Amino acid sequence: MPRVFLTGASSGLGYALAQTFIDEGYDIALAARRTGPLLELVQVAVDRGQRAIAIPLDVADTRTIAPAVAKASEFLGGLDIVIANAGVGIPAPALELRSEDLKAVLDVNVLGAAETLLAARGEILRSKGVLVGVSSLAAWRAGPGAAAYNASKAALSAFLEAIRPEFFARGVAVMEVNPGFVRTPMTDRNGFAMPFLLEPDDAARRVFRAIQKRKSRFAFPRRAAFFMGLLHHLPDWAFDLLARRVCRSLEKKQILGREVGKTEVSN
Ligand SMILES: NC(=O)c1ccc[n+]([C@@H]2O[C@H](COP(=O)([O-])OP(=O)(O)OC[C@H]3O[C@@H](n4cnc5c(N)ncnc54)[C@H](OP(=O)(O)O)[C@@H]3O)[C@@H](O)[C@H]2O)c1
Repeated sequence: MPRVFLTGASSGLGYALAQTFIDEGYDIALAARRTGPLLELVQVAVDRGQRAIAIPLDVADTRTIAPAVAKASEFLGGLDIVIANAGVGIPAPALELRSEDLKAVLDVNVLGAAETLLAARGEILRSKGVLVGVSSLAAWRAGPGAAAYNASKAALSAFLEAIRPEFFARGVAVMEVNPGFVRTPMTDRNGFAMPFLLEPDDAARRVFRAIQKRKSRFAFPRRAAFFMGLLHHLPDWAFDLLARRVCRSLEKKQILGREVGKTEVSN
């Protein structure tokens, strides 16, 4: 059975992905900071007769990533699929964005994800497997209120695109996953309507199928990807007009700081 290393498996999309891989009979190594949920998943896999291990890991501490990947590989006897899914979103209006939050988001979503994939290079080249980075449709167009998150996902997408050809030439697939909204603890706190929202199990199943097909890019759900594709191709002047309107509306509803003219810069 293929062997999977998955980060961010303790909640949301990662937890649902872990459940899906276990249901499908895969052997799995699960990483995150909170080990409680990982151990629950491991127990389910072990009860089914599969090999599974929980690995405590904070991807923001990049020095600990390679040892975690090595431990996973040693336990499973190699790796066929490595999924850099761990991510954080710290929403903040630009005027209130703190440098420590900007750094925290970039550390996990960019460096943590990239280092996870790089640490698994040797194993994946041996197995001619799949490297997966969970980016976001937010990588395609950046909107107000999530500058750090948008920047991090755009950076991760560019990283995946850049490494893809070299790995492709050696029989390894590099896959960029771009989910739209999925109901998880990350999005539960969003105070705005989330169009085309998916349940995590549904999202996980779609990602699982795309990984099996070794797709280079998988953006979903289709309607959200179509809409974001339109925004991506809008001329900048038109997009800026639209973004300013969205920004005003979010400020009026107090979702994004206070209204223009009533805002004080916090640093
Ligand atoms: N939900 C959406 O609508 C949506 C849309 C597009 C993309 N995504 C992406 O999908 C991925 C999963 O997000 P989610 O929605 O499932 O969020 P979530 O429920 O908040 O889960 C995030 C996962 O990342 C892990 N994580 C966070 N910081 C970490 C760190 N420093 N080291 C190791 N693990 C860490 C968390 O585990 P611990 O806290 O236990 O460490 C948790 O398992 C993220 O990359 C996110 O950007 C989500």
